[in-house]
Amino acid sequence: MSASVVPDTRHQVPAPGVGMRDQYGREIRDLRVSLTDRCNLRCVYCMPEAMEFKPRDEILTDDELLLVIRAAAELGVRKIRLTGGEPTVRANIVELTGRIAKVPGIQDLAMTTNGIRLADLARPLAAAGLRRINVSLDSLDPAKFRAITRWGDLGDVLAGLDAAEAAGLHPIKVNAVVVRGFNEDDVAGLARLTLAHDWGVRFIEMMPFGSVAGFQTNAYVPSRETMDRIEAALGPLHPIDVTGYDPARTYRLEGARGTLGFISSVSQPFCAQCGRLRLTAEGRLRPCLLRDDETDLRALLRTGAAYEEIRERFRAAAYRKPWGHGLARGVIPQRRIMSQIGG
Ligand code: 5AD
Ligand code: SF4
Repeated sequence: MSASVVPDTRHQVPAPGVGMRDQYGREIRDLRVSLTDRCNLRCVYCMPEAMEFKPRDEILTDDELLLVIRAAAELGVRKIRLTGGEPTVRANIVELTGRIAKVPGIQDLAMTTNGIRLADLARPLAAAGLRRINVSLDSLDPAKFRAITRWGDLGDVLAGLDAAEAAGLHPIKVNAVVVRGFNEDDVAGLARLTLAHDWGVRFIEMMPFGSVAGFQTNAYVPSRETMDRIEAALGPLHPIDVTGYDPARTYRLEGARGTLGFISSVSQPFCAQCGRLRLTAEGRLRPCLLRDDETDLRALLRTGAAYEEIRERFRAAAYRKPWGHGLARGVIPQRRIMSQIGG
């Protein structure tokens, strides 16, 4: 497909507040786009060491991706978050970021990355139109960091965070998944980052997926326990109100520059406010992270469907977004693991 078939939708961008809603009235403004299922790490809770990745021809091309994002923006999506796997291992990531940033209607472009390649990429990504970044970092202890990621070098991520700050990516968020037996004792050290940096450090409850669900369920640490550990080491957490929707419950340590957040998808689901959809790297639209229902947009794209048909299929899938996940009742998504969805 050539770039010229991507229609110019400038005149069709809906006015503010006229976005897309799902069957429960939730406004859909946020699309997370997985650029690849590949990764340059192998975090123990995420994927097996001998992970097999999808053949490249099953992954959406840049032009196919752009077409879906244009349709989403035309329907009211305002924010795109690029995810993976690891989004920075996608070929031509800087050029692709620049093209996405220019899609009419997209007001906010963010990325979730493991930070390994950020020292080199932060500046060109910011110049291409990336506004902000979430860096996954589960421990500040080099040996533990290596144990969790199987082969990552902590120094690369810390250099990446410095580069992100220098490049003006703002706000910077640091995401830590708390994994029993690996990093539950490291949470205070991570929380301490907010004393010196104007960053949002967020602790994420681990969610179960398919083939890794057994490990994930056994090593799950509830947010309450993480909060208690942080308070015992660093003093009381003061709740703060954040304007706008944020899945994290947010706090500040006494005198801190940054904030602490707790994303408690398992113990306190936030589905009622969720306005997100996810596009997998193979072009399946997944309205809920933790439900297996998907719509195959790639099949439509590759059988020559008209642009309007793809857009309407997108709208219909968004409308059917399920109310929430079924973890409390033991319903665990089976079809994909996190890196194949885009976290
Ligand atoms: N539960 C919660 N978060 C997870 N991540 C990966 N797997 C899981 C899981 N099972 C996180 C990564 C990264 C983001 C994309 O999702 O650590 O921060
Ligand atoms: Fe890669 Fe992120 Fe999965 Fe770790 S959690 S293996 S960094 S995709």
